[in-house]
Amino acid sequence: MKQAIIVGASSGIGYELAVQLAAKGYQLGLVARRLEKLEQLSSSLAAEHFIAQSDVSQAEQAQQQLTDLIEKMGNVELIILNSGVGQQEKQLDWPIEREMIDVNIRGFAALTVVAMNYFRERGNGHLVGISSVAAHMSGGMAPTYAATKAFVSSYFNGMRSRAEYSKLPITVTTVEPGFVDTPMVQGSPIWTSTVEKAVSQLVTGILNKKGHIYITKRWRYVAWLLNIMPKWLMRRLF
Ligand SMILES: NC(=O)c1ccc[n+]([C@@H]2O[C@H](COP(=O)([O-])OP(=O)(O)OC[C@H]3O[C@@H](n4cnc5c(N)ncnc54)[C@H](OP(=O)(O)O)[C@@H]3O)[C@@H](O)[C@H]2O)c1
Repeated sequence: MKQAIIVGASSGIGYELAVQLAAKGYQLGLVARRLEKLEQLSSSLAAEHFIAQSDVSQAEQAQQQLTDLIEKMGNVELIILNSGVGQQEKQLDWPIEREMIDVNIRGFAALTVVAMNYFRERGNGHLVGISSVAAHMSGGMAPTYAATKAFVSSYFNGMRSRAEYSKLPITVTTVEPGFVDTPMVQGSPIWTSTVEKAVSQLVTGILNKKGHIYITKRWRYVAWLLNIMPKWLMRRLF
């Protein structure tokens, strides 16, 4: 049976990914802080799955918990790093910004190291990291969140190069969602996709081992526009 781990499986995109990957026959390792949500998810899935409570902001502890889960499961071929926090930053509030840095950068990088080293030893594997179209923004509305996601996208470009140098069949996939209807997105910004539709496109991209996936697909054009937008216009809009 194919095995996959989803870090950040208790809500939103990660929860729906678990539902859709289980339907494709994957046995899953489900990771997050909220155990009750993971248990609820696991009991709604047909086959047996594994659960691990972990707070990725505690980077070294989270590395050990991921390593233990990989060992317990036995033969994991797909690891998806989805955990993330973000919100509008109307005020500069250090505890909120520090959490974004701890989860979206420190925790993310710590688990990437575990996953890449595991796949190198295993001889192959597929690592997926959830960034954001916000990686292409550098405006004042959410400067810390955008910067953390710019880190994720840039870091994964580097990991893709390392996978190529290794000459091993290791795939590294960067995912950049636009707006997806999850508890993280408050209100109804433009072009908000249902989580089911966005995750269905994500699963197709993962199974086809794409290097870069936008969900939904139309956000590719927004990313392109943001890349060529003059800085003065970016400052006015965001
Ligand atoms: N929704 C969007 O429009 C959108 C757009 C661009 C990018 N994204 C990205 O997509 C990913 C999923 O977001 P979502 O929209 O599905 O949000 P969500 O519903 O709030 O889910 C966030 C997930 O991250 C986990 N998480 C947060 N802090 C954690 C921590 N310290 N340790 C372990 N897990 C933690 C949560 O689990 P626990 O709270 O149980 O720990 C939850 O499973 C995030 O990386 C987000 O930045 C979302």
